[in-house]
Amino acid sequence: MAERIAEEKINEIRQSVDIVEVISEYVQLKKQGRNYFGLCPFHGENSPSFSVSPDKQIFHCFGCGAGGNVFSFLMDLEGYSFIETAIKLAEKANIELAIDPSNLGKEKKVSDDVLQMIEAHELLRKFYHHLLVNTKEGQHALEYLLERGFTLESIKKFQIGYSLNSWDFVTKFLLKRNFTAEILERSGLIIRRESDNSLFDRFRNRIMFPISDRHGKTIAFSGRALGQDEPKYLNSPETVIFNKSKILYNFHLAKPTIRKTSQIVLFEGFADVIAADRAEVENGVATMGTSLTEDHVSQLRQLVQSVTICYDSDNAGIEAAYRAGNMLTNVGLLVKVAMMPNGLDPDDYVKQFGAEKFQNEVMGSTVTWMSFKFLYFRRGKNLQNEGERLLYIEEVLKEISKLTKAVERDHYLRQLAGEFSLSLDALKQQQKQVFYYEKNKNQQGQLTPNKPTVVTKKSVKSLYPAYQTAERRLIAHMIRNSEVAYKVQELLNGHTFNVDEHQAIMTYLIGYYEEGNPPDPSAFLNYIKDDKLKRIVAELEMMSINSEMTPQELNDYLKQVLNFPKLLMIKEKNAEKIEAEKQKDFLKAATIAMEILQLQKALK
Ligand code: CTP
Ligand code: MN
Repeated sequence: MAERIAEEKINEIRQSVDIVEVISEYVQLKKQGRNYFGLCPFHGENSPSFSVSPDKQIFHCFGCGAGGNVFSFLMDLEGYSFIETAIKLAEKANIELAIDPSNLGKEKKVSDDVLQMIEAHELLRKFYHHLLVNTKEGQHALEYLLERGFTLESIKKFQIGYSLNSWDFVTKFLLKRNFTAEILERSGLIIRRESDNSLFDRFRNRIMFPISDRHGKTIAFSGRALGQDEPKYLNSPETVIFNKSKILYNFHLAKPTIRKTSQIVLFEGFADVIAADRAEVENGVATMGTSLTEDHVSQLRQLVQSVTICYDSDNAGIEAAYRAGNMLTNVGLLVKVAMMPNGLDPDDYVKQFGAEKFQNEVMGSTVTWMSFKFLYFRRGKNLQNEGERLLYIEEVLKEISKLTKAVERDHYLRQLAGEFSLSLDALKQQQKQVFYYEKNKNQQGQLTPNKPTVVTKKSVKSLYPAYQTAERRLIAHMIRNSEVAYKVQELLNGHTFNVDEHQAIMTYLIGYYEEGNPPDPSAFLNYIKDDKLKRIVAELEMMSINSEMTPQELNDYLKQVLNFPKLLMIKEKNAEKIEAEKQKDFLKAATIAMEILQLQKALK
């Protein structure tokens, strides 16, 4: 792979980009000592176990074991090939790469298709927008939007468009521009009729909302019917470039404001995002007509600490907000809920009451997650009725019991006591009972789902048997110092490490040094081609060790390594001996006992 870009170029790129800068585009990093920490983008977690070392230019996650250098980070997270990553990073570092595309071969074919699909979407976005804003054919659609309260400014900002009422306009338009029917079909823009194999446009006579990826490239459309046609919204199908459970509408445009305010507002529909934007709430995103997924949650979690949910105030919206809020608080996000009067959605609200009122009375008067839950449990209950009232109080106490801060529990208990004229002491007592009841229930019910077992740094360490720890420590030193590497090789004297991966790393490492390369954590990672080995190497590179290894330490570790196969053998022989004694074959047992003795003598 690497032959296609010269090794020196790769090194030049590696040295010109800073891994902290690159990873910061995806993960919120905080400096702690020499390293940076954040929430791992490769697995869901609440507390940061993902670390980045600016000195070594590598990353490693103590939780899931992901690790590597800036190349492997982008390859794993974005799914780029090595070449694509090199191109991206070279661009970033302003390094000229003379690559002949015809040399790129098959690997390039896949991404070529992707590029073409995106190209087709980008072309159509411009074309649809032009139709809406500048032509007679799109005039009625433009009037519909303006009538609904959309402004020309936001139509431009969100690149809203119009698709002609034609079965084959887009098909012809794109085929003429040399896109193949296969690519267009796979991109979801055109559909093949089963009956006669002919092609037709997916979107006809609809308001077109382009959907962008996180880099701002159009990867799909959602088409809204004009008036009452069904379905109201027609979306692009899932394709290689469009994954509904990952995409958040407006993520790209919202990102700068999200960063600036450390806040995200989550809406249900894109009409809402656009209406809120008109009211200067520019950090809004929305899911694509699907409910919130773990994937979305993890993207939000990486950017902010707090999310405001602003869903429709109808029943479905309140249920969806309850579900979303639980998912968000489960990963440690602070949740606020913005509410509107009965049945309205944010788009209706802005149109009816104007931007200022939306800012002040909706966005400016959010309720806490706990208060929202109070309201949620209250729905459909007649609190004048004693039974329903007690049920409500019980449900709320259960929620209050989940709060870890005594001050917070106290606050809500007082609120509850005040509202129903209850004795605060009695309420507190009942809350304690609820707490212990729930706690016991959970303990009986094994592991609580949703909460992944947290692998702490400590538990990982203690999982390794002594010989493995010894090998890991040796390698950690060998990566940092070529003298040590050669020394260990010499002392092993033809023996190998017991863990195959460790032996493989050792072989790579000696090869790396023999080619005249100096110790360099990130460069060595590029030298290794195997993903599993890369992760282990990154972990060992991150391991904190003393800068020098004493001869005593070196000896102890080597002893562990060399003794292990013998100890294993002794264990096997012992079992054989016991078996022989059982069979009353005492001669055999005695022979084995001799062998065991020999092995024990050979232990260092
Ligand atoms: N949606 C969809 N398919 C539908 C209806 C809705 O994909 N047939 C998605 C769209 O992403 C939409 C969101 O669900 O933005 C919310 O739906 P809804 O509340 O019905 O639409 P509004 O956003 O209110 O749209 P409008 O104001 O245009 O009616
Ligand atoms: Mn609406």
